[in-house]
Amino acid sequence: MARPKIALIGAGQIGGTLAHLVALKELGDVVLFDIAEGIPQGKSLDIAESGPVEGFDATLKGTNDYADIAGADVCIVTAGVPRKPGMSRDDLLGINLKVMKSVGEGIKAHAPDAFVICITNPLDAMVWALRSFSGLPKNKVVGMAGILDSGRFRHFLSLEFGVSMRDVSAFVLGGHGDTMVPLARYSTVGGIPLPDLVKMGWTSQDKIDEIVQRTRDGGAEIVALLKTGSAFYAPASSAIEMAEAYLKDQKRVLPCAAYVDGAYGLKGLYVGVPTVIGANGIEKVIEISLSKDEQAMFDKSVDAVKGLVEACKGIDSSLS
Ligand code: APR
Repeated sequence: MARPKIALIGAGQIGGTLAHLVALKELGDVVLFDIAEGIPQGKSLDIAESGPVEGFDATLKGTNDYADIAGADVCIVTAGVPRKPGMSRDDLLGINLKVMKSVGEGIKAHAPDAFVICITNPLDAMVWALRSFSGLPKNKVVGMAGILDSGRFRHFLSLEFGVSMRDVSAFVLGGHGDTMVPLARYSTVGGIPLPDLVKMGWTSQDKIDEIVQRTRDGGAEIVALLKTGSAFYAPASSAIEMAEAYLKDQKRVLPCAAYVDGAYGLKGLYVGVPTVIGANGIEKVIEISLSKDEQAMFDKSVDAVKGLVEACKGIDSSLS
């Protein structure tokens, strides 16, 4: 059987890291696309030349021509601009919306059967716009945010408890922005929920609150340190987990920015929720019950996403 074809739209920091991970994990052959000439070709060749040393079997092709993504099984979209220190993800909206239009049209024309994972920010609005521009089925277009946000939460919790990151699970809901909702009561260390760990005296509520805030600010913390761009290793790993779940029909339970219509009282909005990813893309949106406080935080986050979607409609009338 032919290897899966994985098209990476955007060959910048995340795109290059994605290409490297796809090759190392032998998930499929890579087509790395960018409008910048030479960058996708150079990165593809560089990674391919690591193949004999790493011992992977995968072909990598860099291109500036959408025709090369034809028939892709998975497209991961990172095209656009990242933020600089002092910018919020929302500041990227105008520029990246135009990018989503050209990417959506490219995917529609050449890879309409692909499972599409969007990473470009502001994520919840960009994945919504990309879905509209591409016209692909809603279960086949999804945004990557929850795995990254919960990964950050898990990392900080593992430091606090001094335990392996593998034994920490974390739950984050809502938009990928300052209003995201890390849910302590569904986050566990070795299966023990955080509120119980506070009661056991292993940590304090203040410490948990601090970690929740650091998780919300996780992207900005990296931007402030890098100064010239935003996070790319952890975002790439997170998107690869989603691609693998689709390609191998793993039925993984993963938090993603999925199209929600009905659940959580939402009507046709992309927002971060727990999902099941398998061969049919987003196979299920899992609806959990929320406490009054959690619901209020979720509503605030949903309102922020709605505001961004309205802003997109204001900029591009074909979206309204
Ligand atoms: N089509 C294809 N590629 C494009 C387009 C376009 N219309 N416009 C820009 N690009 C390419 C750029 O040439 C660049 O190589 O997108 C790439 C983006 O790479 P980086 O600037 O390195 O950004 P990166 O760190 O990879 O982040 C990409 O993901 O997390 C989000 O906020 C982040 O929106 C940003 C995106």
